[in-house]
Amino acid sequence: MITRHEAYDLSRRNTFGMKVSCRLYVEVTEPEDLLTLDFDALPQPLFVMGGGSNLLFTRDFPGTVLHMGNRFLHPSGVRDDRESGVRNDKEYGGRNDGAFVIPSEAKESLVRIPAGIVFDDFCAWAAQEGLWGPENLSLIPGEVGASAVQNIGAYGVEAKDIIETVHAFDLRERRFVDIPAADCGYGYRTSNFKTVWKGRYIIMAVTFRLSLAPTPVLDYGGVRKALENRGVILEGEGMGPETYATLGILEGGAQPQVGRDGGAQLRRVSGPIPSSLTPQIIRETIIAIREKKLPDPAKVGSAGSFFCNPVISREHFERIVATAREENGPDCEVPHYEVGDRVKVPAAWMIDQCGFKGMRLGGAQVYPNQPLVIVNATGDATPQEIIALEQRVIDTIRKKYGIELHPEVEHVGAQLADNQRIK
Ligand code: EPU
Repeated sequence: MITRHEAYDLSRRNTFGMKVSCRLYVEVTEPEDLLTLDFDALPQPLFVMGGGSNLLFTRDFPGTVLHMGNRFLHPSGVRDDRESGVRNDKEYGGRNDGAFVIPSEAKESLVRIPAGIVFDDFCAWAAQEGLWGPENLSLIPGEVGASAVQNIGAYGVEAKDIIETVHAFDLRERRFVDIPAADCGYGYRTSNFKTVWKGRYIIMAVTFRLSLAPTPVLDYGGVRKALENRGVILEGEGMGPETYATLGILEGGAQPQVGRDGGAQLRRVSGPIPSSLTPQIIRETIIAIREKKLPDPAKVGSAGSFFCNPVISREHFERIVATAREENGPDCEVPHYEVGDRVKVPAAWMIDQCGFKGMRLGGAQVYPNQPLVIVNATGDATPQEIIALEQRVIDTIRKKYGIELHPEVEHVGAQLADNQRIK
């Protein structure tokens, strides 16, 4: 079904809560509908949006916003779990518009999830089914389609690690295509869908490769410690009999440092897994960590991390360490992750060092608990206020550290003219 709304209010469709509208909003619930939609007749430009959780609309959108709302799997005769929105049916046999699980003698399951499913519903379902893969990505806002565009990531796992194939509609050729993950140009919070292919594809569904054998990734951002605090014994007594895979130990016996979020390569090697370690307990632990640090989208508008973490040369990093030690004493440690011969420095640390935590500009605020996030603190912040605060952060970090921060959040709409900006 195709639903159209003219002069559509987008304020409930973007998690930042920007009060903006678009000329036409088109909701499509069946992939096949795209074959009948007259794209040439739509007001231009065309923007395809998912859950609206990684966007900043900078003004009213003059064209068409299209949303793939294919949430439910419908052919008759198979179980349709509307609560999770995910089909799990072994007889499903590979139909194109739903998820299915391949027979369980296999070590991996391929599940095809419609683009309009809320990503965290997919995570919840996988954890419930005991399927490993997306548990560290729990509670990331947004929908499945967007996860494949943005290569969402958290706690050492990125979407690309579990994406097998992206199923899309090619607007240029007007046909459906299956794109293997290896061709999608995945990198840190990026893909070809955001860059060289921008505007070409509408994502219909994503096939994920989930593991029936344990594949925990624990060595990032305090996950291991948080699990231990919940009573999960990760070493010694309490270990299960199985020797499946991965405690995130680096090849060659080196101690694990960070997960793929931080750029280091984790090699999965065999090791005993405690029987109490399940995708469900990891999911619950990640949710608890995120709830402490990140604003609840139901209460405070935001788009998650506003900036990407920059990767700089080792010499540049050493200069930052020297400055930090001059300012804070010789024991000051600068948090960082090795990425090959370069270094990733958390933008949150730099923003914190510059005293931005909690800073307000109109209705926009640097979130006090995690300064990488900008929030719509009053509920009526304008795009101009968010952009002005963003610019102030970027300028300050450039001046102090010689680093150009880049927003992670996609800005949608024309650049605002200088005289429209709040200084
Ligand atoms: N830090 C401070 N002061 C603070 C907060 C943090 O100095 O007030 C420092 C700490 O040293 C901390 C470091 O910054 O260890 C990094 O913080 P954290 O790991 O919490 O977050 P991040 O690396 O900045 C990334 C992702 C998040 C993801 C977390 C966990 C990006 C842009 N963001 O943040 O993703 O949840 O790691 O894996 O890579 C998102 O994309 O929207 C998102 C929330």
